Amino acid sequence: MAYFNPMRPSYIADPYPALARLRAEAPVFFSEPHEAWIVTSYTECLAILQDQGTFASDPERSTGRVGERIRGQRASQLLGDTPRIGQSDAPIHGRLRGTVAAAFTPRYIEGARAFVGGEVEALLDAHLRSDEPFDALNDFAALLPRAVIGEQVGALEADRVQVLEWAMALMQTAHADLTPARRTEAEAARDGLLGYLGRVARGETGDPDSLLTRMARAEGDRLTTEELLALTIDVALAGNDTTANLIGNGVLALAANPEEETRLRAAEDYSTAVDEMLRYDPPQQAIARFTTRASTLRGRRIPTGATVLAHVAAANRDPAVFPDPDRFDVARHGERHLSLGMGVHYCVGAPLAKVEAEAAFRALLARLTSIRLVPRVVLPRGPDWMLRSAGAVPLQTGELLRG
Ligand code: HEM
Repeated sequence: MAYFNPMRPSYIADPYPALARLRAEAPVFFSEPHEAWIVTSYTECLAILQDQGTFASDPERSTGRVGERIRGQRASQLLGDTPRIGQSDAPIHGRLRGTVAAAFTPRYIEGARAFVGGEVEALLDAHLRSDEPFDALNDFAALLPRAVIGEQVGALEADRVQVLEWAMALMQTAHADLTPARRTEAEAARDGLLGYLGRVARGETGDPDSLLTRMARAEGDRLTTEELLALTIDVALAGNDTTANLIGNGVLALAANPEEETRLRAAEDYSTAVDEMLRYDPPQQAIARFTTRASTLRGRRIPTGATVLAHVAAANRDPAVFPDPDRFDVARHGERHLSLGMGVHYCVGAPLAKVEAEAAFRALLARLTSIRLVPRVVLPRGPDWMLRSAGAVPLQTGELLRG
């Protein structure tokens, strides 16, 4: 009988065999413990993401526990009822999205390329040493998007550590039941961050060419200051764990497939390989939607108010769309993967994430003659199945280090 239990150690270690079984037996499956429909086939996941009218993003639509949890997280994030880009629908979503899209210009991405390249080299200079293993996740991949956040919010160099601490403290509130002491801390972080970002937006401090100041200047529907600041925080944080684990999971895939590493070294363009890393082991494994009306998927009737999880990691290995889907192939043209979403909520930071990942892999392959995991290491994967993270990616250094 079909079932979905992402808490099982075997699932946490490698979810793909269980997902293949579920896709074959029950591609549209109601999981009682999650009170959610788990959808694992590509065609149905795509249909969900492209039909925002039926499958909405605002968790207020949900009558189930997932929606309740997201609403709870939203409340504890201390940004009140301010609409959030990832959890809103038309027409609110269009206003927020338009503002970010106007700021993410090709010129901004080009500028980011230079900044990211410099950060990548600086991080490797600081952390990659011949006398100890190199944790490619915690000492590299996780630090890169954090540096980018500081730049995005326009913080002056001297203020970046503080700004990041505030943003992290605010984000942590999503994961924990807040004790009164932590709530006070989080409120202080929120006030500090909102105050700082407000000064940047008004041009009183910071970088006038940052993403935040570009959004503040964007033409079109004006946002309230609260909306602008919540949007800045969401944009900054959405690219954090995701980008870190794209790089971390990609390093793991290369370490497990040395012949693919050799092919990548010979490739001129890394973008196809980065798309394959996203397809093969996506950082965000599933995308939540909430039904505004009853609908039918593969003959299963889904009622109004239901939570639907488009399991994009499973869809990306659907053999009906991706031949030999369990093979990691750096030359595969698998851009149809759903790891960055699809439709109106398609990841707005995708070009930036790709710039970061490409720069990270180029530099890593330039400095190490071979990507090899420390032998017999057990990866400390956490229990959060929606975010696929290895916990650590310790690589051998020593004689593998160039120069
Ligand atoms: C590998 C890295 C990344 C992955 C895997 C990823 C994944 C995703 C996915 C799956 C969605 C769609 C969510 C949905 O449909 O509900 C999304 C949306 C979004 N992403 Fe990313 N993301 C990444 C990097 C980034 C970066 C670097 C940024 C910002 C600089 C960013 C900002 C956003 C924002 C603001 C949204 C919401 C867009 C909307 O609701 O209209 N992401 N991302």
